[in-house]
Amino acid sequence: MLFAGCNSNQSIVNPATEQARQIDRLWWAMFVGAMVVFATVVFLLVLAFVRRRTAPSHDDRRPYMVVVGGGFVAPVVLLAILFGFVIDVMPAVSTPPAGSTRMTVVVIGHQYFWEFRYPGTGAITANELHLPANTPVEIAVRTADVIHSFWVPRLNRKIDMIPGRTNRIEIDAPTPGVYRGQCSEFCGEGHALMAFDVIVQPPAAFRQWLANQQQTPPAPSGVAAAGLQVFQSAGCGSCHMIAGTSAVGQVGPDLTHVGSRSTIAALTLPNTPQALYDWITDPQRYKPGARMPGFSSLPAGQRHSLVAYLESLR
Ligand code: CUA
Repeated sequence: MLFAGCNSNQSIVNPATEQARQIDRLWWAMFVGAMVVFATVVFLLVLAFVRRRTAPSHDDRRPYMVVVGGGFVAPVVLLAILFGFVIDVMPAVSTPPAGSTRMTVVVIGHQYFWEFRYPGTGAITANELHLPANTPVEIAVRTADVIHSFWVPRLNRKIDMIPGRTNRIEIDAPTPGVYRGQCSEFCGEGHALMAFDVIVQPPAAFRQWLANQQQTPPAPSGVAAAGLQVFQSAGCGSCHMIAGTSAVGQVGPDLTHVGSRSTIAALTLPNTPQALYDWITDPQRYKPGARMPGFSSLPAGQRHSLVAYLESLR
């Protein structure tokens, strides 16, 4: 049952890039090394129990040999070998040299969601990071508040998001698909629910997606137009941004194309009208600690038109 997890979409032993393959090899080297140590220690322990006790004579050197050999020489040799594996993997997963990648995505951690910016395009999205396949991409990570850590186990190592710093890694995923990521530094109440998807697409499909994300959504009509009124009068725009409207908030996720995403609240809920309605009504029920306040005081009709408006933003 434990091994069943090894094949999952968020497992380091299920690598999908060259960097992740190197980390996978390191993981196995460490695992084998740890098992050798464990087996040796258990063997010696059992041996100590079953052997007949005889008091060592005064000039018996064997106890000193065991302490020097087992307590010093063996650990130094073994840790040096394992360190060699680490040194071997480090260049492949360290900061990419300037100019070695073809594009940059800025990732900003927030309590508790992910913001993705595509410099030079104006496109901003949340919780679903689209990347082109077979393209080295520099991931530049920052934080808006506390320390988070960006980690997509199948694509590369984790990279901490530290206040006042920008850290960088490279992702170069050869195969289109969806790879799950997770915040891996405890950042508060909503840490466990701070997940994201990396959606790797064929380059042409990616370019099409990016072009769409740069568009200002068309003016809504019907119920959705009423929803825009609710959005503005309820004060949603003080936390959220929607391009082409007066909403320019920076606290919550950018909602310019929220209808095009498949999940809401950092993968906590599917992006369906019902789930969005429930989320707007009482976010704390689904994600304790989220900055989003509940809007159960709004009449149900207004909440439904708000949902219609948000779902129209594709
Ligand atoms: Cu963000 Cu843990």
